[in-house]
Amino acid sequence: MLRPSTCPGLVPAPLRLSRSSGTFTLDERTAIRATPGAGPAAALLRTLLAPATGLPLPLAPDGRIVLVLEPGLTGLGAEGYGLTVSGETVLLRAAGVAGLRHGVQTLRQLLPVAVLGTEPVRGVRWSIPGTEITDVPRYAWRGAMLDVARHFQPVSFLRRFTDLLALHKLNVLHLHLTDDQGWRMPITAYPRLTEVAGIPYGGAYSRAELRDLVAYAADRGVTVVPEIEMPGHARAALAAYPHLGNFPGRPLKVWQGWGVCDTVLGVTDEVLDFCRAVLDEVMDVFPSLHVHVGGDECPTAEWHRSPAALRRVAEEGLDGPDALHGWFMEQIGSFLTGRGRRPLGWTETGRDLPDCFAALAWRDADHGLTAACRGQPVIMAPHRSTYLDYPQSPHPDEPPGQPGDAVDLQAVYATEPAPAHWEAAVAARVLGTQAQLWTEYVATAAHAEYLAFPRLCALADTSWSGGHDWPGFQARLHHHRTRLDALGVPSRPSAILRPERTTR
Ligand code: ACM
Repeated sequence: MLRPSTCPGLVPAPLRLSRSSGTFTLDERTAIRATPGAGPAAALLRTLLAPATGLPLPLAPDGRIVLVLEPGLTGLGAEGYGLTVSGETVLLRAAGVAGLRHGVQTLRQLLPVAVLGTEPVRGVRWSIPGTEITDVPRYAWRGAMLDVARHFQPVSFLRRFTDLLALHKLNVLHLHLTDDQGWRMPITAYPRLTEVAGIPYGGAYSRAELRDLVAYAADRGVTVVPEIEMPGHARAALAAYPHLGNFPGRPLKVWQGWGVCDTVLGVTDEVLDFCRAVLDEVMDVFPSLHVHVGGDECPTAEWHRSPAALRRVAEEGLDGPDALHGWFMEQIGSFLTGRGRRPLGWTETGRDLPDCFAALAWRDADHGLTAACRGQPVIMAPHRSTYLDYPQSPHPDEPPGQPGDAVDLQAVYATEPAPAHWEAAVAARVLGTQAQLWTEYVATAAHAEYLAFPRLCALADTSWSGGHDWPGFQARLHHHRTRLDALGVPSRPSAILRPERTTR
């Protein structure tokens, strides 16, 4: 039995792995057998293996790669799987399709690295060594947030990024779709959102592109969670519809700076109607349970000066304008729960989001603990270990990024979603963890990938299988780097086309 953490190059490491005799070799005659319900995973296996191997891998009742969906299978949870590779067969079993999909990614990593190429490669023996794996993730939420509001990325990149997440068994793509600097999703009821606010820094998606992305990601076991920022970080929306602000006659431009903008949404019924109409369209495209509605960095200075906001404070019997933030989030949260969704927000303190919210703890791990102690589901995302817009190292060659100390690979690897000393009932509220790729300083896809990898490998390893063997992880990553190279993920700052500075 090999220590899973030192087995050759699997990222994330499986829970249990042993080697056995025999080698399974794929050739022109190899077929796949899928039991009822396992078809989507078989289709994924073919999609992933066909380009480089050039093998037909048809479905056949006597196929020697067998994918078995067994809903009654116990001990593997919704995403676990068992994989047995012998000289004669490959047997992949799981209780859910998600588990089969993860097993498919493991099979892909067990094959020669050339399998990751996009063109047929000749002369490779497509062999998998005899292996027995039982694998179950530690956390259900293993994610990455991509900020497409600050700098837009085309949907082709979102698909590629989704593929890279799935390779690492990461299962959430959180799309930060709106901010002060841009609005990227078309809303039929409010066309100026993309006509006006989709212009700077790139563009906007079509609804069909987003729907297709959701389906593409689902086929790979990735849930796309949309984020629409409110009531702060909403300046782009206010440039499109100034009457939704606190001073309705004031014309505004999409913000050209970075940081925290003082301009925030108003608190009138019309604003709430706007938010609900937007979220209805968002939910129509994104079926995820969680719908992220921001909540972070919302200065209240405008509410202190706005007659309409002060009227709202009086009508609702609030303590003062600062209390409007909680009131606003409550209105939106109850709207989402009424639609059968779970609101998700950035927590600033651990106690600022209404009870119905799940909390993304971004400032500090202690805020996650506070929210979990209050009974809220929590996703840990402390900025000093999960913000990938900070440089990866203090090296002067690192491209310009978010000012601040480096967040290095080891810091990401050491992210502990629920520290061991937490009470079990509190720790059980931690859904998992995710990395954040903010893009104020990231204009190109190559730059985004450079920042994301290999740090996402570390987050994947920690959230899937434990993160307690740094030397073992480094050894596996050494081999895994050849996979990232085969996929064309840039590993050196010199590979990044430095964009012109676009602002300030
Ligand atoms: C955040 O970094 N403002 C969530």
